[in-house]
Amino acid sequence: MTQLMTHLNETVNFIKSKVSETASTAIILGSGLGNLATKIKVDFEIPYTAIPHFPVSTVEGHKGRLILGILNGKKVWVMEGRFHFYEGYTPEQVTYPVRVLKLLGVENLLLSNAAGGVNANYAVGDLMILKDHISLFTINPLIGKNESDLGTRFPDMSEPYADLFIQKAKAIAALNGITLHEGVYVGVTGPTFETRAEYKLIKAVGGDVVGMSTVQENIAAVHCGMKVFAISVVTDLGIREDNNVITHEEVLEAANAAEPKLTLIFSELLKEIA
Ligand code: HPA
Repeated sequence: MTQLMTHLNETVNFIKSKVSETASTAIILGSGLGNLATKIKVDFEIPYTAIPHFPVSTVEGHKGRLILGILNGKKVWVMEGRFHFYEGYTPEQVTYPVRVLKLLGVENLLLSNAAGGVNANYAVGDLMILKDHISLFTINPLIGKNESDLGTRFPDMSEPYADLFIQKAKAIAALNGITLHEGVYVGVTGPTFETRAEYKLIKAVGGDVVGMSTVQENIAAVHCGMKVFAISVVTDLGIREDNNVITHEEVLEAANAAEPKLTLIFSELLKEIA
């Protein structure tokens, strides 16, 4: 057995020794989007630092926890905090929790993220469903020996985000009067926000938003046969007449403000699919 599979099995056995139940759906919460966790009736929670083989944070004050609980009447795993490539984690570390969730029995993965808009029709605070992504600017997490216990060498990526979930989310949004765009997320490494020329490039290659997470997790999830759904909160606009500057603070503030809409869509979607 490869070292990756050995580690995954040890992590999964450890979690199973702590909690006997599992859930078919997991949610990974993006930057500034952690408020959903407060809506959960928690059955079990554990800090990432206490989970064997979970990536070890080198960043001061980095918090993160894995939760199993009830949201909107349904059992769900929630990862409060994710691992980003720009923090120095390898693509294998970034995607490690996704594979752990798969081996815990998770079939559906719901992802949220903060992203910069480049589509002229988008405003700060809008939500966008990912119907597709472009990952050419990030390192593919499947590079290296294929882990055939998880999936195939050359995974099909024609439907990286499950159409069924997209249709359900659109119906939920319409019912609740929430404007929901559907578009293409361009994954970048960060940690710099983009230059003005880069935002224009991202728009020119077909992107609607740009962000520093999600695509590697999506690839690992598709590889091991999970159905994925993802939403971006547009936290800033890369292409504007007024030559704006972008700060992490405004990104977090916009994410926080839009968070209730996202929580509503995730919890209603969970009710339908779990
Ligand atoms: N670019 C990249 N990542 C981001 C942005 C952005 O403008 N906003 C939030 N995450």
